[in-house]
Amino acid sequence: MRNIVLVGFMGTGKTTVGKLIADKTGMPLLDMDSLIVERVGKSINDIFADDGEPAFRALERSIAQELATGSGQIISTGGGIVLNPDNIKNFEKNGLVVCLLADAETVLDRVRHDDARPLLAGDKEAKIIELLESRKPLYEAITHKIDTNGRPTAEPTALEIIDLYQSNNP
Ligand code: S3P
Repeated sequence: MRNIVLVGFMGTGKTTVGKLIADKTGMPLLDMDSLIVERVGKSINDIFADDGEPAFRALERSIAQELATGSGQIISTGGGIVLNPDNIKNFEKNGLVVCLLADAETVLDRVRHDDARPLLAGDKEAKIIELLESRKPLYEAITHKIDTNGRPTAEPTALEIIDLYQSNNP
């Protein structure tokens, strides 16, 4: 059984969609950020502040390598997983990788009251616009993409991914 790997910018709904797919299919959900927090014993904000972004990316890389060898699981990644193309290559070996897309306005709406994302500290709107623009080609390069703009709930996105998984799971 292949994995379902959810990729996309912050605030595109990866974790929410992942939970819904888990509820509907009974597949276990592994949330990469939660695993990192559990293993390091610090929040994402504290890892970035104390150890720096490169240390966070190294943790993310090693957990991606580990999870990519599993099967039949839903993996919700952090928005920066696409920064290292090897992560996506690893996940594609045994996984349906689906990228959730949302424009800056939608992302801002969804993360406005959330301060757990170190890369958006300060002027959230400006940071979102800048980061989204620079990463756009990396998200666009993923084969399976779902536009989540104008979808107030995660339900249709979860159902679409389950459909895709069932029709692509030999
Ligand atoms: C990041 C996204 C975050 C988290 C970290 C860095 C990014 O995950 O991994 O703050 O670089 O886009 P979410 O996409 O779940 O917010």
